[in-house]
Amino acid sequence: MCGIVGVINGSKVVDDLMGGLELLEYRGYDSAGLAIVKDKHVYARKTEGALANLKKELAINPIEGRVGIAHTRWATHGEPTVVNAHPHSSQKVTVVHNGIIENYEMLREDLEYEGYEFVSDTDSEVVPHLISLFMDSGALSPEAAAMSAVKMLDGAYALGILFEGEEEFFCAARKGSPLAIGYGDEAMYVASDAMALAPMTDRVSYLADGDFAVLSQGNVEIYDVDEHLVQREVRKSSIKANAADKGHYAHFMLKEIHEQPDILLDIVETNLGAQKIAKEKTVDFAEISSLRIIACGTSFYAGHVAKYWFERYANLNVEIDIASEFRYRNAPLPENGAALFISQSGETADTFAALEYAKSKGQKILSLVNVPESTIARASDYVVLTEAGSEIGVASTKAFTAQLAALAMLVIEAGKARGVLSAADERELTGALKLMPAKAQEILKQTDVYQDIAQSLKETHSALFIGRGASYPLALEGALKLKEISYIHAEGIGAGELKHGPIALIDKDTPVIAVAPPGELAEKTLSNIKEVQARGGPIILISDAKTIAKADFETLASVEVPECHDFIAPFLYVLPLQLLSYYAALARDCNIDKPRNLAKSVTVE
Ligand code: F6R
Repeated sequence: MCGIVGVINGSKVVDDLMGGLELLEYRGYDSAGLAIVKDKHVYARKTEGALANLKKELAINPIEGRVGIAHTRWATHGEPTVVNAHPHSSQKVTVVHNGIIENYEMLREDLEYEGYEFVSDTDSEVVPHLISLFMDSGALSPEAAAMSAVKMLDGAYALGILFEGEEEFFCAARKGSPLAIGYGDEAMYVASDAMALAPMTDRVSYLADGDFAVLSQGNVEIYDVDEHLVQREVRKSSIKANAADKGHYAHFMLKEIHEQPDILLDIVETNLGAQKIAKEKTVDFAEISSLRIIACGTSFYAGHVAKYWFERYANLNVEIDIASEFRYRNAPLPENGAALFISQSGETADTFAALEYAKSKGQKILSLVNVPESTIARASDYVVLTEAGSEIGVASTKAFTAQLAALAMLVIEAGKARGVLSAADERELTGALKLMPAKAQEILKQTDVYQDIAQSLKETHSALFIGRGASYPLALEGALKLKEISYIHAEGIGAGELKHGPIALIDKDTPVIAVAPPGELAEKTLSNIKEVQARGGPIILISDAKTIAKADFETLASVEVPECHDFIAPFLYVLPLQLLSYYAALARDCNIDKPRNLAKSVTVE
């Protein structure tokens, strides 16, 4: 959460800082600010709310200079006000921070005792004062003082640091939170995400945990945690400068929903043709005793679908866990077990902490990420990429189906390796996968159907999503999508669980969205739907044409999904759920790409 940018280019930095912030706004949009050194003095501008407000402020009160840092905030400690917005300053030091300083209360008390005055409620404000303390207390240079000070911080940080009177360099440091360095011609950059550097440069390196960097025009010195000068590999980034372009779509979310058929086609063709998920990229499924899948949010639901697949097609025992629950409970892990971490961003703090725990318990670590250079990818023994391209909309859509596609490939590999899938079974599953992108395209075309249903959801206070088998995680995902972007309360329920309590919620004002693909569980789901109907609940049925035609209950609406093999149903049935949420949020005039209180990359716990 929060995004930081730093630039030194010897001339004008404000455009690069603002351009970088725009690409990082998905990380938080509660407030924004920047600081620039001009004629050896630090000047700052800060505003509440979205970045557009900072732009307006800069138009009224411009600043310019050769070195600067900037920040877009997702509030943790302290409300989203101007006073709490970054940068934070002492008399000598100005800082932007992403992460959480866990020992800030103790540090603040000590610093206040020493006479340093605080103005905000944030944890971050201790950083400039602490660096000042080191500068005030001896013969340390600003950069040496900062390097010593950050060692006293517990928790997670990515920092950009400016000094009063210094315009030839700025500093950066990282522990826990990510930070990329960009190498320009006669310019150096830092950013929380390499995507923010794409318009400026494609040469990037990544600071390792505990690194401290001093950036000057055209040069960077990086010190590791033991203060040894080190080199970090400079790579050519594949991120395109226009990755954050909406094209002709009104929202990133809609664009990303519509990108899915092409992305899925690419993944299926490359992997099934060239066997891209090669053995060396993944654990030996024949060898492991069990698999633990760990993730958060939408990525967790992709893992939940994969549990059903691994059990059914590879006879592999799979446990699934939400990362924030797993990380603290000292779960015993089996000998010879493997753990699979799924994360679009590859930066989710809870998922990363769970990974470190599993690693310490001797598990083989496999990760499935969308960002190849991410922290989770770099800490894993094996990495499979989801290849969905940058996902900008805060609500995850294309990353989910790309995760499912990569997981489907892994399941087939596992099924073969464990002697469960015959060559004929494999042909059947891969054949189904190959047909999936075209069927997905058909589903996306039914815009009128989604818009009509969305109108009927518009005034709803609460909705229930039900499904069985692999459609149960889809019901959970459908509910998450609806609540996060349209702010309608929603719950996903295993259809068979309804009668154990949730059925009490059914009334004429509580629509039930039933995810009911044909197949061995269909009859059971249909009888659960009738139980809903008997209690007056309006039903939105998502199924194939045959099932819809023969349904002997009344529906408020139905969405038709082409007939398909069971294996690919999750890819197809999630699409109407994404579109229903999108159009419901649109009808309610919500901020679809930046829902309130959320951020795309959750790098705090
Ligand atoms: C929901 C959503 C979140 C993320 C979750 C995990 O639309 O986007 O629930 O899925 O925060 O993020 P990653 O996958 O980056 O670890």
